[in-house]
Amino acid sequence: MNSSNWKGAWISDGKSMHEKALPYFRKEFRLDKKIKSARAYIAAGGLFELSINGQRISDAWLEPNYTRYDRRLLYCTYDITNAVSNGGNAAGVLVGNGWYNHQSTAVWDFDKAPWRNRPCFILDIRVEYTDGSIETISSNRDWKTSTGPVIFSSIYTAEHYDARLALTGWDQTGYPDTAWQQALLRSAPAALITAQNLHPIRRVEEIKPVSVRKFNDTVYVVDLGRNIAGVAKIKLSGAAGTVVKLRHSERLYESGRTDLSNIDVHYRPVGDADPFQTDIFILSGKGLEEFSPRFNYKGFQYIEVSASQPISITKESVTGYFMHSDLPAVSKLNSANPLLDKIWWATNNSYLSNMFGYPTDCPQREKNGWTGDAHIASETGLFNFDGITVYEKWLQDHLDEQQPNGVFPSIIPSNGWGYEWGNGPDWTSTIAIIPWNIYLHYGDTSLLAKTYDALKRYVNYIERISPDGICSWGLGDWVPVKSQTPVPFTSTAYYYTDALILSKAALLLGKSEDHERYAALAQKIYSAFNARFWNAAAGTYGTGLQTELSVALHWKLVPDSLVPVVAKALANRVIADGRQIDVGLLGTKTILNALSDNGYIDLAYELATRETFPSWGWWIKNGATTLFENWPINAKSDISMNHIMFGEIGAWMFKALGGIKTTEAAPGFQVITLEPCFPKKLNRFSCSHESVMGSIESAWERKGSSLQYSVKVPPGAIARLRVPASGNAGNSFIELGSGTHQFTWKNL
Ligand code: BGC
Repeated sequence: MNSSNWKGAWISDGKSMHEKALPYFRKEFRLDKKIKSARAYIAAGGLFELSINGQRISDAWLEPNYTRYDRRLLYCTYDITNAVSNGGNAAGVLVGNGWYNHQSTAVWDFDKAPWRNRPCFILDIRVEYTDGSIETISSNRDWKTSTGPVIFSSIYTAEHYDARLALTGWDQTGYPDTAWQQALLRSAPAALITAQNLHPIRRVEEIKPVSVRKFNDTVYVVDLGRNIAGVAKIKLSGAAGTVVKLRHSERLYESGRTDLSNIDVHYRPVGDADPFQTDIFILSGKGLEEFSPRFNYKGFQYIEVSASQPISITKESVTGYFMHSDLPAVSKLNSANPLLDKIWWATNNSYLSNMFGYPTDCPQREKNGWTGDAHIASETGLFNFDGITVYEKWLQDHLDEQQPNGVFPSIIPSNGWGYEWGNGPDWTSTIAIIPWNIYLHYGDTSLLAKTYDALKRYVNYIERISPDGICSWGLGDWVPVKSQTPVPFTSTAYYYTDALILSKAALLLGKSEDHERYAALAQKIYSAFNARFWNAAAGTYGTGLQTELSVALHWKLVPDSLVPVVAKALANRVIADGRQIDVGLLGTKTILNALSDNGYIDLAYELATRETFPSWGWWIKNGATTLFENWPINAKSDISMNHIMFGEIGAWMFKALGGIKTTEAAPGFQVITLEPCFPKKLNRFSCSHESVMGSIESAWERKGSSLQYSVKVPPGAIARLRVPASGNAGNSFIELGSGTHQFTWKNL
């Protein structure tokens, strides 16, 4: 909808941004003709909850999704035909702070965001009558406003609710609002309002506690049995004025009480009125009461319920809700190794826990849109979820944040934090890698076209600061097991990848001069990289670390003739390192792929399913239901228990074990590259991916000395299957049309 079509005005209650209680707004209106349809269009500086005639009109939460509020606001559209009726109606809007009015204080200074203000909204209810006439009910000065029971709300920490202040019936007709104030007009937070075009955040899964431990009659600890992002709902009764606190944590102290020390480290509270991840519910004393926060979410497994007066808590008192952008799941996976299946499940749990209208690093400590974590996890996301719309939205956020010189901040959206730190090409290559992965998975060039100029400016910037082709700007292989790869090694690899993607995008978009210029630039970086890091005498890159060798292989910086030599060096290095990984964030992207793509599937599988430190399996063996931020489970710092950054393994299972790969020349799985690998220690594997062409299924099972392979190719697609060699024969490829194909191979 064009901005000029809005009939309503931006309104707020005119209170200061320091006011803690949230504003409620209400308006009654009559609809006197026969209604054909009705829609509500609503945008907010902050978050909103819309109700019509006493009913919440959507199952979406935390609407609208977070953007750079002073540049772009999102509006949501709801069909409310069934919520309105002939005669009197009432509309109610509760407005929340979200990232717009961040009152909590933490290291990133979101409380000093340039857009910060008292939350506000704009609304048009557009009613079409059966006679063809249109009537619009809009936000304006004729709305009434009051504060109410939500006495504090922070997207970052928690929500506080005083049930004694409940405004029963406030969003229904006939409510006595004479004590309410008149709403005030205010300026628009930004001129641009665009449609929210992505799957909304929902309470997707309901989780019942597995146990409740009673410490005394005012303290209980509830265990959900798994780590989630989301909220809890509590139902209980107690004396009026009883203060009930719900403290959410990922782990427990030995005493059994909640331990937040791994996730509150960047919080800088002023006083003790806003405890971290702790909702506060003050009871009205009127029988069984219920509370769940509306404008906050947390990362947690445990909820410590404590109260100022005795209460009774059972497993029925508390429910957990796993929340995230409700991306449709598009994959299935099952194997003979339950550990592998659990790692896949945990990876998806962390991916979803970090998807709230923009990809985040973790749902508790930060909730920041860390760029690096997101491009590393983007293939895992695309194999497992229909994620295109959230990436389209987030790449628009990138465009809103780019400096004129081409630079992006390390977190997006940003209040300004992150232009100074952490934003080298190893993180902000999101601008190249994500549109490219969308192109490969969906066969759609529109995102590449939209971000093309931004990518060009970005690559030009790196070129200016890296005249000799080596880029030293970046954070490097973040949180490594032990060895640290030099930053210029990995940043130059990403700089090369960006230039290469840019040259390919130029070709696709018919920009032949750019294509040549950036292909030449990529070639220059390639040569500089090899001149600097290839050690011919030792037959290795850099000092031969796992990250160095696998990054060079995976990002295709190794000349063809040397690939077998470097792959062998990598395998030897892994063996010399004790057959275990020694990589950080950037190396987790490459280590498994570089091994399995180059003939070392058994070693890759061994790393992927290892059960002792350091490994994904080590976390799972220790009870993890999500991926962690650090390899030692008791690390002193950087130990969130729900990070997606080590999550490439979820994509690797599809690419290596299922063999399902995109084909650059025919993207969107028009041509499926099928290169399944069969680790000796795995007897059965199957996976499917619901691609834009239809369902692709790849499955195999060992039966005695033979291996049965079956693949389903969707209608209209073709597959190029690598037929594995037995003995010393080379691999060969055959082309398969749509339908199901079965093969039996011997001695693999
Ligand atoms: C975040 C990471 C992020 C990193 C950047 C951390 O605090 O949680 O996931 O990529 O900072 O260095």
